[in-house]
Amino acid sequence: MDRTIWWDSPAGRIGLVDQTLLPARYEAIACADIDALVEAIRVLRVRGAPALGVAGAYGVALAARTVEAPSFEGYLSRVREASARVRSARPTAVNLAWGVDRVLAAIGEASAVEEVQSRTLAEAERIAEEDLAMCRALGALGAALLPDDATVLTHCNAGALACVGWGTALGVVRSAVEGGKRVSVIACETRPLLQGARLTAFELRRDGIPVTVCPDSAAALLMREGGIDAVIVGADRICRDAVFNKVGTYMHAITARHHGIPFYVAAPSSTLDPIHCGAEVEIEERGRDEVACLCGTPSVPDGVPVRNPAFDLTPLELVTAIITERGVFRDPANLFSP
Ligand code: MRU
Repeated sequence: MDRTIWWDSPAGRIGLVDQTLLPARYEAIACADIDALVEAIRVLRVRGAPALGVAGAYGVALAARTVEAPSFEGYLSRVREASARVRSARPTAVNLAWGVDRVLAAIGEASAVEEVQSRTLAEAERIAEEDLAMCRALGALGAALLPDDATVLTHCNAGALACVGWGTALGVVRSAVEGGKRVSVIACETRPLLQGARLTAFELRRDGIPVTVCPDSAAALLMREGGIDAVIVGADRICRDAVFNKVGTYMHAITARHHGIPFYVAAPSSTLDPIHCGAEVEIEERGRDEVACLCGTPSVPDGVPVRNPAFDLTPLELVTAIITERGVFRDPANLFSP
């Protein structure tokens, strides 16, 4: 499968699959400057925590190529300013800030513009390669948790489209299928932006993995009916006491616990944030129209307020295990130990 985000070397810009066009069109766009990248992140042309980490990383490399200043010190401070704009384009997925910070740190004691450019690009490329490798590794670890014939319920899109490739929750599914297991997926549609219906269904169908889409509100009934062996989701940030992921994840975790179904979170270690969540993490609140308009037609009366939080937090006691590239953690206390 092609990559979701990459560095276009000859042109010196970022290439990415424009996910707002899916499932109708699978098309790439180029981000040639920081404005274009920030816009792509805000409107979810590129999305999903691991892919955002790589977007942040490439964003610093792009800044290093596109900003100008009369002095080297001025150049460095413009690279940092542009990087800070990328870093704050969306607040909840920790990977975005992590990717930006890691590439900024790689500048180190560089003393010339060309050196900054080569160091930032090399580090960003390393991050992209690592992302693929982490997804492969956690996929293999997670696959071992599934029975030979498994039906997995997932929410949002934690697939190849949310990473450089392979995926986290869907990486587990892909690895299980690769290993000979028969896995089918129930994809919750994921109101309001339909990442499950549009993206998860698109990529699984393309790969020949059986997938059925259901409204988010049908998940409890399907779990009650039996036949769901596991719920597997990705994560935008895993703290010491909670997992942040697409809004709706929390209700699936509660429902899975009620029905005795294992609830797994699959994420690379770039998603770990060793804080207690408290009030520190900003849950992105998105625009009214995402909820109040259906296909351009108002679906909520004028004047009626709407809430549109993009993420929720699930207490770790509802999580059966967290699957990272380093192992399967049934005791979250071990997640943050070295
Ligand atoms: O708003 P999105 O589409 O960026 O939200 C994405 C999710 O919530 C994913 O589940 C999460 O980032 C994990 S992706 C491997």
